[in-house]
Amino acid sequence: MSIPSISLAVIGGSGLYDFPGLLDPVRHRIDTPYGPASGDVVAGGFAGKRIAFLARHGESHTLPPHRVNYRANLWALHSLGARRVIGVNAVGGIRDDMGPRTIVVPDQVIDYTHGRFTSFCDVEGAEVKHIDFSEPYTASLRRELLAAAARAGIAAIDGGCYGATQGPRLETRAEIARMKRDGCDLVGMTGMPEAALARELELDYACLALVANFAAGCGDEEEISIEEIFAHLAAATAEVPNLLRVMLAG
Ligand code: HPA
Repeated sequence: MSIPSISLAVIGGSGLYDFPGLLDPVRHRIDTPYGPASGDVVAGGFAGKRIAFLARHGESHTLPPHRVNYRANLWALHSLGARRVIGVNAVGGIRDDMGPRTIVVPDQVIDYTHGRFTSFCDVEGAEVKHIDFSEPYTASLRRELLAAAARAGIAAIDGGCYGATQGPRLETRAEIARMKRDGCDLVGMTGMPEAALARELELDYACLALVANFAAGCGDEEEISIEEIFAHLAAATAEVPNLLRVMLAG
């Protein structure tokens, strides 16, 4: 079942449930030792290469962040032959220059999630594996994304710390104030354990964070409007295929 020619896998977050413009798409339903993935992996042609796409929350957005089977998702992409993965993540902006519609390629993570399966060795009898996670994202893949954004004329911020929260609710102002003190620049619900699991499988992995709103207490708004989140997200998501096309075209 291995298709070694997959150049890139994309895990779509909120607002990205299919990959527009995939040529001759083929759906793969992959059995994994960890249970079902979020859905079928769709592989197809894009920018002269072959890519694989998986909707993290399911194609109809039915899986909340804490119920996503991150292990199965990464296993499925790996078993199809993917060796490089871009995780597209909706986030809230904490830093002043990370307002709605900003695109960020973060370089650090703090994990505040709990109760998720965080490792492939979390299985009876599996060999315990410790990974170096000093740099949670693959530097070369981050650079490729940033270079492609520059070539495509898409503004993208290089670096930032992604704070991964449990969700599905948004955070309180006090929680965001604490995260800011901790050094977080962005907040999202799905960045972990995805990045760590990718490292366990020795996949190259980078996060493309799309800012949907200012996090609680960070902007001028009294409350965060979910409708506005999805409107901003749609605008930022529209840039993704173009950015990846330029990246793959090399
Ligand atoms: N918090 C957590 N996750 C998010 C947010 C937020 O404000 N916006 C989009 N995803």
